[in-house]
Amino acid sequence: MTTDVLVIGSGIAGCSAALAAARAGARVTLATKATAPDECATWRAQGGIAVPRGGPDALARDVRAASDGCADPDAVRALVDGAPEAVADVLLDTLSVPFDRDGDGFDYGREAAHSARRVLHVDASTGRHVLGPFLSHLRGRERVTILEDTAALDLLARDGRVHGAWLERDGDVEACFAGATVLATGGIGALFPRSTNPDGATGDGIAMAARAGASAEDMEYVQFHPTVAGGDEPFLVSEAVRGEGALLRDGNGERFAARYHPDAELAPRDVVARAVARERERTGEVTLDVSPLDFRAAFPDLAARCAARGVEWRSGIPVAPAEHFLCGGIAVDREGRTGLDRLFAVGECARTGVHGANRLASTSLLEGLVWGLRAGEAAAGYESTRIDAPPPLDDDPPLPPAFAADKFARLRRIVGEHLGLERDPDGLRRARAALRRLKGEADAYCRTRTSRDLYELRAACVTALLVARAAGRNPESRGCHHLTAEASGRAD
Ligand code: SIN
Repeated sequence: MTTDVLVIGSGIAGCSAALAAARAGARVTLATKATAPDECATWRAQGGIAVPRGGPDALARDVRAASDGCADPDAVRALVDGAPEAVADVLLDTLSVPFDRDGDGFDYGREAAHSARRVLHVDASTGRHVLGPFLSHLRGRERVTILEDTAALDLLARDGRVHGAWLERDGDVEACFAGATVLATGGIGALFPRSTNPDGATGDGIAMAARAGASAEDMEYVQFHPTVAGGDEPFLVSEAVRGEGALLRDGNGERFAARYHPDAELAPRDVVARAVARERERTGEVTLDVSPLDFRAAFPDLAARCAARGVEWRSGIPVAPAEHFLCGGIAVDREGRTGLDRLFAVGECARTGVHGANRLASTSLLEGLVWGLRAGEAAAGYESTRIDAPPPLDDDPPLPPAFAADKFARLRRIVGEHLGLERDPDGLRRARAALRRLKGEADAYCRTRTSRDLYELRAACVTALLVARAAGRNPESRGCHHLTAEASGRAD
């Protein structure tokens, strides 16, 4: 199969890249592992999309402050400057996203670490109201082909140039040669015992790019969301709820957030997540008290989700941090170009420099949109070239279904134990050793088999190792990379 632009991933970043490439005249193939839109992180996004409001430069200032001073100011400027046109063109004019309104204008929401009300949202279900229309729109475009339930196993890379990818569907593997390839594979939540991400968030794009020689940066900055309900089946309780006045209480019913940061419940996400974890440890439980607001009127979707999951929100929603977003990823420039020729990366799998050490709420959909559009346009200018490449071997009989799942469970235990909210050099060293062994096994299985779960296992091993190595190299606690008090200052 050949195409002008191959986009891998169907969240907002992949859809935006596909749209821009098609508008620029390219034939686009969008391949996604997902079999339904709710398997994308975008679908699950609650809070919304931050837009520049609150005074000149205010959004840029807030993004930089939340990043713990680690954001790249030029990247932040590119995000903020690109936002108004991208939102107006794609979300309003093209997709008619029904953002909540207040009289004649939009009902701008407030979220933690934002100095102004500036978040466009649809209740607390913004993602699905963006992604549903986006996929429908792309399905209606002549130059776009969407391949569902189709996994990318590896890039077709030679001499520093990427020519497409090996795609697997129903066990069959086929080369897709492309003029340019855009990775939009999302995050790494599936590597963690508890995450807000879908199960397919196994770091595929990051792993494929890294294996082909692209560099990954800021991988130690893994963001945890502070208010995730639902125990072993986690579901997010949007930061917008705290933005509207909800309070965090410890197991004794006392407020605690102000002891950790002057902005209390509205402090940057990394600070609140650590505070919640510590107070849970100290007092056994943390709940989100929604009594200061009219919860059901302000967040009907969330109230319904709580009811469906048997969570009695009137007596406080029990919450705990869970992995939510990778701030780092494959290093890219302002157009989403990676260090490899004709390979682009957008969305959560990319490191644009916007988020630094900690992402500001409701900037991920915006980043995916802005970078997706730029990358899609830039990717549209290349002709596809075929290369002779040996297909991945599928010579050995399949392993029992539980095989990869068991290895994956082991990986999750290692990651959960050593790469969580607080880290220490000894734990990081142990994690690297264990992950190296696991990766060695996964590499060996993938040499003679092409089953999707083994490739996902290998991607997860590669990505977890990148996180563990980056964390081990960084002796400074900043944002989401936090070394335990005893470990602080001791370089690994
Ligand atoms: C939330 O609604 O709290 C999540 C928004 C985000 O991750 O940006």
